[in-house]
Amino acid sequence: MQGCSDAPLSKRLEDKVALITGGASGIGEATARLFLRHGAKVVIADIQDNLGHSLCQNLNSGNNISYVHCDVTNDNDVQIAVKAAVSRHGKLDILFSNAGIGGNSDSSIIALDPADLKRVFEVNVFGAFYAAKHAAEIMIPRKIGSIVFTSSAVSVTHPGSPHPYTASKYAVVGLMKNLCVELGKHGIRVNCISPYAVATPLLTRGMGMEKEMVEELFAEAGNLKGVVLKEEDLAEAALFLASDESKYVSGVNLVVDGGYSVNNTASAEVALGKFSAD
Ligand SMILES: NC(=O)c1ccc[n+]([C@@H]2O[C@H](COP(=O)([O-])OP(=O)(O)OC[C@H]3O[C@@H](n4cnc5c(N)ncnc54)[C@H](O)[C@@H]3O)[C@@H](O)[C@H]2O)c1
Repeated sequence: MQGCSDAPLSKRLEDKVALITGGASGIGEATARLFLRHGAKVVIADIQDNLGHSLCQNLNSGNNISYVHCDVTNDNDVQIAVKAAVSRHGKLDILFSNAGIGGNSDSSIIALDPADLKRVFEVNVFGAFYAAKHAAEIMIPRKIGSIVFTSSAVSVTHPGSPHPYTASKYAVVGLMKNLCVELGKHGIRVNCISPYAVATPLLTRGMGMEKEMVEELFAEAGNLKGVVLKEEDLAEAALFLASDESKYVSGVNLVVDGGYSVNNTASAEVALGKFSAD
């Protein structure tokens, strides 16, 4: 696995309890694995029950990792998931609110499907609200905690993603910033990670392409050459924000995009096309 060696490592989440929504697949799964290796007790909350259970079994870490069925669009489900983490491990230190969907890939406003808009907001935005609400209820009395949301690089640049998805990811950043202020009074940190494209099922399914092809395509389109962004790279970013190494970091949207959002060569390309001799 990229970013993981067999060398002994210092355990950066020793004795911490983490709840990860959308933890059965992709970025959430990679983060669950990494948090576990760093000594955390991890509870995965997802709707893919078979995948979630088999991940826990394969990791073979006893009670240190477990699964709970949780549809993040359902406030009650989320409350049950938070309670499960607390009843299994006595507390909650880290919420990684990561569950998300891409929605329809049509990016035209005229083609907007109200049902798609609703679903994308229910999962990506309402789910983040519910997770933060129930985690905060547990964290506030203890005056400690780290909440990390997964937004997206679409919150800082426009790569052509559909409007509902982009708007939902801006909403997550807005929620993070507001919460950083409210929960800062209680010693709780709140941050986002915002990935560039990673070839997880969300993306490969959405594009109808094999993982390798998606990786190749986005590596070529990326700003930072010679590197392919992997789920494990986002797990490392989440680990930093979850661990005490970031103990004074709050209100940050950590964009993990290799500089993609900084690079805008559109005008140079138009100029090149217009004025180059042919
Ligand atoms: N893959 C990318 O290129 C990319 C880029 C930027 C941001 N993101 C974000 O990363 C996060 C993780 O996505 P991923 O790329 O790992 O995709 P993924 O599909 O591999 O993982 C998403 C997980 O969320 C779960 N989920 C979906 N709806 C749910 C619901 N209602 N309740 C609970 N769980 C639910 C899925 O079952 C799945 O396990 C998402 O928020 C996504 O928007 C992904």
